[in-house]
Amino acid sequence: MSGDALSQDPAELRRRIDTTKAHPARVYDVFLGGKDNYPVDRAAAAAALAANPRGYLDVRHNRDFMRRAVTTLAKEDGIRQFLDIGTGLPTAENVHQIAQRISPDSRVVYVDNDPVVLAHARALLTSGPEGRTDYIDADLKSPAHILEQAAKTIDFDQPVALCLVAILHFVEDAQAYPIVRELVAALPSGSRLVLSHLTEDLNPESIRAVQRTYTERGFTFVLRSKAEVERFFAEAGVELAEPGVVPAHHWRPDDAAPAPEHADAADLEGLDAIDKVRYYDISDVTDADINVYGATGTKA
Ligand SMILES: C[S@@+](CC[C@H](N)C(=O)[O-])C[C@H]1O[C@@H](n2cnc3c(N)ncnc32)[C@H](O)[C@@H]1O
Repeated sequence: MSGDALSQDPAELRRRIDTTKAHPARVYDVFLGGKDNYPVDRAAAAAALAANPRGYLDVRHNRDFMRRAVTTLAKEDGIRQFLDIGTGLPTAENVHQIAQRISPDSRVVYVDNDPVVLAHARALLTSGPEGRTDYIDADLKSPAHILEQAAKTIDFDQPVALCLVAILHFVEDAQAYPIVRELVAALPSGSRLVLSHLTEDLNPESIRAVQRTYTERGFTFVLRSKAEVERFFAEAGVELAEPGVVPAHHWRPDDAAPAPEHADAADLEGLDAIDKVRYYDISDVTDADINVYGATGTKA
């Protein structure tokens, strides 16, 4: 289903939304301070935060890695097309807003399989007149379908940035590596891969504690080592760009990280732990906090 998915029958959409189980997009939205989540998602986020009180830094630095990677590709490499699979709920800075600020003719296709993301996808389809955005309601595990639908918006004869940001940990090895190979194989030479991934290389205790809270809730949660992340690039014929696979906050840092909405201690009083994190300044990050690798590369 493509942008037409937005005309989906609201009753059908409501039927697909399960409010009794935590969903990755909505738990992630809780950490970003969004409102498109349910009590069960807040409970999952709260359990993860109790397991690792600095865990919100993984989420917010992952998102900031995405901002810097898209900015770099758009500004320095002239990339004008983005296929963002595992988009998440719309938030302040989505890929098309970042890319179209640099180049208004940028085209962005978003893909997610969560019906709540679909329900909010209109906010992702706010392209400026020179560019285009589309939304595909699809599963990463159906790469051929995604490629077929994306071709309505993306010109596969021109370079494309395939963004797989904080999604591959939901997919077991047997499917994850072939999927990335298949997606990259459809892209022309000069295309880019933007990838971030949770790992237990860096701070194993904290991320394993978080992993337990998610696997208890039935999520697939595969942590991958640096070598396993590099394998996604190597097997797909994508050459890593500098600085390689690094902790997300070390990937080409800049000074433009979004400032907290406000940081007045008095305003935080009365908020619970999970509501507070959106207001925290993330620039106090240390290497003891981060469990996410980020990397980009170029298809040969
Ligand atoms: C942790 S969020 C990451 C959001 C965004 N990429 C970012 O990094 O800010 C993961 C997203 O991947 C989506 N997702 C998980 N498994 C998926 C699958 N098999 N197919 C499509 N989307 C999936 C979830 O619904 C969620 O929106």
